Amino acid sequence: MASSFRCLIFLLFSLCFLFFISESQTTFKPTKLVLTVQKDRATNLHVANIQKRTPPLKLPFVIDLNGRFLWVNCENQYSSSTYNAPLCHSTQCSKADSHYCHKCPTTARPGCHNNTCGLMAVNPFTNQAAMGELAQDALLLPSTQGFNPGPMVRIPQFLFSCAPSRLLQKGFPKNVQGVVGLGHAPISLPVQLASHFGFQQKFAMCLASSGGNNGVIFFGQGPYFMLPGIDVSRPVSYTPLTISQQGEYYIDVKSIKINNKIVPLNSSLLTPTKRGLGRVKISTTTPYTILEHSIYYSLSKVFVDQLKGVPQVKPVTPFGTCFDSKRIGNTKMGPSVPNVDLVMQNVVWRIYGSNSMVQARPDVMCLGFVDGGVRPRDSIVIGAMQLEDNLLQFDIGSSRLGFSSSLLSRRTKCSNFNFTSIP
Ligand SMILES: *[C@@H]1O[C@H](CO)[C@@H](O)[C@H](O)[C@H]1NC(C)=O
Ligand SMILES: *[C@@H]1O[C@H](CO)[C@@H](O)[C@H](O)[C@H]1NC(C)=O
Ligand SMILES: *[C@@H]1O[C@H](CO)[C@@H](O)[C@H](O)[C@H]1NC(C)=O
Repeated sequence: MASSFRCLIFLLFSLCFLFFISESQTTFKPTKLVLTVQKDRATNLHVANIQKRTPPLKLPFVIDLNGRFLWVNCENQYSSSTYNAPLCHSTQCSKADSHYCHKCPTTARPGCHNNTCGLMAVNPFTNQAAMGELAQDALLLPSTQGFNPGPMVRIPQFLFSCAPSRLLQKGFPKNVQGVVGLGHAPISLPVQLASHFGFQQKFAMCLASSGGNNGVIFFGQGPYFMLPGIDVSRPVSYTPLTISQQGEYYIDVKSIKINNKIVPLNSSLLTPTKRGLGRVKISTTTPYTILEHSIYYSLSKVFVDQLKGVPQVKPVTPFGTCFDSKRIGNTKMGPSVPNVDLVMQNVVWRIYGSNSMVQARPDVMCLGFVDGGVRPRDSIVIGAMQLEDNLLQFDIGSSRLGFSSSLLSRRTKCSNFNFTSIP
């Protein structure tokens, strides 16, 4: 009896101690966090290694700017002492907007319990969907002062969807175990981080342009620095940011110019919807900008006219407009080609050669835009290649997007963040 009492006291002490350790980790209040994102060589998609679970495990996730939450393959030896699946109709389920009660016919494991809530996970490349289980587990991210990755912080009960492995079958870079959603949705990564740490609804993305190189995503308020000590958070130009019901990010582009020549377009394709949503979506899951067919056709024509004296060559898929690259010079802003300007209210997003031209083969350089066919859902989807080496600040509270235009003009780039951690 006495020994079991002593045992109980000891247990309570250990519990208190454990509690103390986990608390002291979270009481440190960071002002911003940073996620390192690598450009995958084979797919040109951007992948972040994120630490989750207890003990922590680093797993690669594809970045989906418009994704609604984080989902992970739970059928690959998920082992964690802090996994927990909230019961259906709980507050966590309503927070995640999940009203479906999940059933699982086999033996219990992460992703498979009875009476938890279901959360539909989607493969952003195929739009294939599968039911996952809403779950909570620890997530760890480095804090930062804007210069280097700093001490790690832990979110003990991060909400995500625990999904079946078949969702990873198509479109993903090798070894990737899920998707991290940055959309404006109740349990997306930026929304959960902002509410957990009490910082503003603001994040900034700076994607690397070379395969194998790292870029960064910052959560929280600037400044953000790239070597050699350049604050890339300003100056930036601001344009209104509109958000769809699904939490996707849109901007309002009024016209397109190439070398100051207006690209003739059917203006109804760029007129905002009745709900006031812009017609141009920003995406990280499309490697190259996709244009509605008539926009693609008109833009290519003006571009070819303006790139005088450079012969066209047989196109290389998925591109439709390619040139003999021996005849294209180089500048500090990349290949010497006409600039493509996205003209918005009061501001211009200038796309230089480094963001418009793709060396598709030796001696073949292609215009890095893709024909999206007729009647696509969005008139323009600005893809990852056009975002690289630009800092984009998603300022949700003020409904605006801040963009730096190419950082090459400021003699830095997204892979110039100082990735050396200061523990
Ligand atoms: C869920 O309930 C069914 C029917 O009661 C049972 O056969 C099954 O094993 C349960 N699943 C889990 C994961 O407990
Ligand atoms: C412009 O686009 C709209 C909607 O896509 C279409 O209904 C209309 O016929 C087009 N106008 C012209 C002149 O092509
Ligand atoms: C990067 O940061 C580390 C740690 O603060 C510092 O020692 C190093 O000099 C920095 N690198 C450069 C190139 O400034």
